[in-house]
Amino acid sequence: MLTNQEFILLRDFVYEKTGIYFAENKGYLLESRLAGRLDELGLSSFEEYHYYLKYGGQKTGQELISLFDLVTTNETSFFRNPPQLDAFKMIVQKSYANGPWPQGGLKIWSAGCSTGEEPYTLAILMLELMSQTGRSLPFTILGTDISTKALESAKKGIFNQYSVRNTDKVVLNKYFTEKKGIYILNDAVKKYVTVNFLNLMDSDSYRKYKQMDMIFCRNVLIYFDDKGKKKVIENLYESLKPKGYLTIGHAESLHNISRGFKPLIFPGTIAYQKG
Ligand SMILES: C[S@@+](CC[C@H](N)C(=O)[O-])C[C@H]1O[C@@H](n2cnc3c(N)ncnc32)[C@H](O)[C@@H]1O
Repeated sequence: MLTNQEFILLRDFVYEKTGIYFAENKGYLLESRLAGRLDELGLSSFEEYHYYLKYGGQKTGQELISLFDLVTTNETSFFRNPPQLDAFKMIVQKSYANGPWPQGGLKIWSAGCSTGEEPYTLAILMLELMSQTGRSLPFTILGTDISTKALESAKKGIFNQYSVRNTDKVVLNKYFTEKKGIYILNDAVKKYVTVNFLNLMDSDSYRKYKQMDMIFCRNVLIYFDDKGKKKVIENLYESLKPKGYLTIGHAESLHNISRGFKPLIFPGTIAYQKG
């Protein structure tokens, strides 16, 4: 049983490390996510677990990996929110394919990529654009997340029926190999995507990822408070090239978060352009 005092200790710890904020009424959620871990570690209270996280020395670093896996929500799927993907295709065709193609290839970043469905969807869209236009459109895609478990799954590129439920049959046949209801993504898509650990709350770690043309950070900001959202958006802004594009989740907004981006209206969605 998670006491109110233990809830506050763990909530504040999780917030400090990840930016993820469990509201007062979400004690049951935090408890259900962490309870199994206490059993695995042989700890008898959440207070002990907090102590283990905070003062565990070397073990703390290891335990943070498990904690990040447990407190994150990794819900995702291929071809999520089609209007945003249509806007992506329009931007690539109108802004880039008509002008000089970025030197070194179009650099796309899926920040909070979970198990990989988002960056792989973007890679498939790029490959489809290439086959439709008959042009070579060099690109690279980076996927980052705080959940090591999600990233390991992304690296494997093996998906279940639920993940591909919104994927067109033709696309499924072209880019996946199906075996008994399991969908294995072809290497021809996987090779464009690199996945790495990155905690969006760690401002220093963005340094490696600069000069991005397009960033997708969808359904991630929703877990942060305004302070966290501002920090992440400021860092993503810095990682974009001038005039680069940002896409956030369809239920998310930059209102009161940033004035640095210009909203661009597309059918059924908004994309943001760095000023
Ligand atoms: C709901 S998923 C969204 C996946 C994908 N972008 C999509 O829209 O389908 C949210 C992801 O954000 C990640 N996340 C949460 N906090 C994070 C942080 N501080 N740094 C990096 N990733 C984080 C979670 O691990 C999770 O995989």
